[in-house]
Amino acid sequence: MSTQSLYKVPSEIAANAHINEEKYKKMYQESIVNPEGFWREHGQRIDWIKPFTKVKKTSFDDHNLSINWFYDGTLNASANCLDRHLEKYSDKVAIIWEGDDAKDQRTITYGELHKDVCKFANALRSQGVRRGDVVTVYMPMVPEAAVVMLACARIGAVHSVVFGGFSPDSIASRVIDGNSKVIVTADEGVRAGRIIPLKANIDEALSHPDVTCVERVIVLERTGGDVNWEEGRDIKWDTVMETASEHCVPEEMGAEDPLFLLYTSGSTGNPKGVLHTTGGYMVYASMTHEYVFDYKDGEVYWCTADVGWITGHSYMVYGPLANGATVLIHEGVPNYPTPSRLGEIVDRHKVNILYTAPTLIRALMAEGKEQFDKFDGSSLRIMGSVGEPINPEAWRWYNEVIGHEQCPIVDTWWQTETGGILISPLPGAIDTKPGSATRPFFGVQPALVDNMGNIIEGAAEGNLVILDSWPGQMRTVFGDHDRFALTYFKTFRGMYFTGDGAKRDEDGYYWITGRVDDVINVSGHRLGTAEVESALVSHESVAEAAVVGYPHDIKGQGIYAYVTLTRGTVESEELRQDLRKWVRKEIGALATPDLIQWAGGLPKTRSGKIMRRFLRKIAANEVTNLGDSSTLADPAVIDVLIESRLNRS
Ligand code: PRX
Repeated sequence: MSTQSLYKVPSEIAANAHINEEKYKKMYQESIVNPEGFWREHGQRIDWIKPFTKVKKTSFDDHNLSINWFYDGTLNASANCLDRHLEKYSDKVAIIWEGDDAKDQRTITYGELHKDVCKFANALRSQGVRRGDVVTVYMPMVPEAAVVMLACARIGAVHSVVFGGFSPDSIASRVIDGNSKVIVTADEGVRAGRIIPLKANIDEALSHPDVTCVERVIVLERTGGDVNWEEGRDIKWDTVMETASEHCVPEEMGAEDPLFLLYTSGSTGNPKGVLHTTGGYMVYASMTHEYVFDYKDGEVYWCTADVGWITGHSYMVYGPLANGATVLIHEGVPNYPTPSRLGEIVDRHKVNILYTAPTLIRALMAEGKEQFDKFDGSSLRIMGSVGEPINPEAWRWYNEVIGHEQCPIVDTWWQTETGGILISPLPGAIDTKPGSATRPFFGVQPALVDNMGNIIEGAAEGNLVILDSWPGQMRTVFGDHDRFALTYFKTFRGMYFTGDGAKRDEDGYYWITGRVDDVINVSGHRLGTAEVESALVSHESVAEAAVVGYPHDIKGQGIYAYVTLTRGTVESEELRQDLRKWVRKEIGALATPDLIQWAGGLPKTRSGKIMRRFLRKIAANEVTNLGDSSTLADPAVIDVLIESRLNRS
């Protein structure tokens, strides 16, 4: 790696940062050599009701899996995000909210947020929610989404937030899996000027004959739009809040009691309910938020993620609020109504720390620098990236046009499963290289293994694994512990397998290369190819489908579907549009195939297994060196597919 591509830590940042280079080295070393002592000390950063004495009991042996942190301590996550700040910060702004329409602005202090959370916690109780119950949350990006999450945490209920872009079918499967009695939603959401029919989607989900568990739907009024009302089941947010008391003693939770469920896609089967628990998650989310973003008291922090993803959980709600930060929540998308919206928000609210995704950066880049001519940006200090590999070109654009070459970029690599950031620069400690997530956070031991599971040392490329547990790690797949062991700990025995590939350079920096399994990443949204395939084959005209990702300028990866139609069905543009709509309805807009190629046949082995590597290459328009096709039952299909491929860029 040439030194030209090394961006040095600015000396001013290094001098004032929580962690400088020397401190990083010392603390990292200590965290690996003596994890017990390291985490005993850092576990104190949050408030415990009963202090822990036990720190770590973990094993990655797939027959004897155990992940326990701070496990004899008790605490409450909402008290850590609210109550503990009240003495000093009752009047400090906790949430700045900007609506989709910039005219809509709100600020909520810690004192007010505390009151709202206590009231809604009591409201949930009045609707029958008890400790351990799963509450499904299907909300727009409004402060009330955070209120619901924290209210659940306050009474020991487990929230399961479903991204507002998911379809009724996707909601139904999550509600059934969690056996959720209560749903919290809004009449409608507003995003980029469009109305999202949240309540109507819930109604449709609940009309599914297999959804029998739901007793109550609490509906926040966001737009006042006309919605269907089912007496006895549906109840207004204002109605339940009206009579609710402002006093709610936080429930004393065990460190290993569940905090939330969040569904994410894997390479096979339905999305998995990733279960996170309370103590370790809170320690890890708050500590990474403070150190990775070098968060300082009084700063305004903006994370553009939706609350329906893990980034919205750890770095919009739990991490920053536990640290007493002022969090900006934007209802819409940062390039609507014009690409300059992002800059306008930063300037209007004097944002100090901005955390966003490569797909947005690329979308802004495509609009041209002129969009930022009026952007001041002098409040910005640190900028983050998350969700997918950031290409160096986008990194440099982010650095120049948004950061004015003054703000260190933290390219944070992590996953729904990891609860918090695992590999990332720390702004005051680690020089950056465009496109590299650089080095591990404290306590994180990444390694590269070959396909046999042998650890590879030095500068190399391989499968990315983590060798030992960290406090924010998921604890199980809800209701299916065997699947947890199988998915993450069996591929390479005794190691946590991330599903990602990575390179490590001669400086020990990690460069994430993307998924090595059948998961694709579309605009930072994770999707299993199997899910899209199963949606496609459930259409009456489809006999078989194979889905792969292909490089896409803005989205990172696009969705490329090869579809074999049932006998007698005629290929047409209309059918193609129909299939796109179908997948949208089955899963949600984010799963809509970009390209659908009609395939008379698919490349299969003699035993009938689809050889995806050929399909990936054809979709990527890499057709000159396809590799050995001798194991195919009918190698001729390849030529036909190449001939009619759709991506010729
Ligand atoms: O492939 C990696 C990619 O996103 C995956 C995790 O997706 P999800 O669970 O939805 O969480 C996204 C937000 C944490 C990873 O397996 N990914 C995430 N961040 C990066 C990344 N790839 C490269 N660089 C990143 N900074």
